[in-house]
Amino acid sequence: MTEFLRLAEDIAREAGDMLLAKRPTMSEEIETKSSPTDVVTALDKASEELIRERILAARPGDRILGEEGGEEPGDSDVRWVVDPIDGTVNFLYGLPDWAVSIAVEVDGQVVAGVVNLPARGEVYTAALGEGAWLGAERLRCNTGVPLAQALVATGFGYGVSRRAIQGQVVAAVLPRVRDIRRGGSCAIDLCSLAAGRVDAYYERGINPWDYGAAGLVATESGARLEGLHGRPVSPEFAICAAPGLFEELHELLAAQNPERDA
Ligand code: IPD
Repeated sequence: MTEFLRLAEDIAREAGDMLLAKRPTMSEEIETKSSPTDVVTALDKASEELIRERILAARPGDRILGEEGGEEPGDSDVRWVVDPIDGTVNFLYGLPDWAVSIAVEVDGQVVAGVVNLPARGEVYTAALGEGAWLGAERLRCNTGVPLAQALVATGFGYGVSRRAIQGQVVAAVLPRVRDIRRGGSCAIDLCSLAAGRVDAYYERGINPWDYGAAGLVATESGARLEGLHGRPVSPEFAICAAPGLFEELHELLAAQNPERDA
């Protein structure tokens, strides 16, 4: 596990340094993916290429799932789950909240995760059963916060038709909580929860590369991370908070039927 974490951290730091150094010259090259708001920059691709090369040089045969390049086949029971830039829109606009995220799964379970925020100089790490860390600081999420006093992070998937529903859901949540934050990076939202900078998080439409590493950071800080009705977290839905607040937020969200499409 330590070997996985060390390698993931080295690679996430190298990709982050490359992105920080090159950002001003290459960020103009933009394509769109699933919708006009779902962007990818040349640097998303360059970052993923670098990460894939480094992983395969150190551990040939391991499988890799990356946001931009899809799944690399292989026989290994180890799979690396990579988001080369989570928070691409922030990155594009020169906002500091974007991250390089690398998770390591063994037999389908995330055992190590690294989320590097180069523009903030912060690196979050977690190892299964061994805790979550911001640099050398052990992280514990906020506990005992009632829903009415909770600062709740969320995000909006890029699908245009789903955005109207996401707007309805957030309209139902807003009057019941302290406030809402839309930071622009699922990975950073989950790490912020682990660090006590927000109390809860929910979102529909995120992917394993968004929540793989940061999900472990959140759960190792003491939070619950699940889908609706006891289902595991998935692209369908994610709720994260300390026990107690989790159940309160779950009740509110489930009543909104937020997985509906119309
Ligand atoms: C996105 C961010 C955003 C979330 C979207 C994600 P990307 O990832 O995590 O916060 O709301 O659902 O797709 O596109 O910046 O890698």
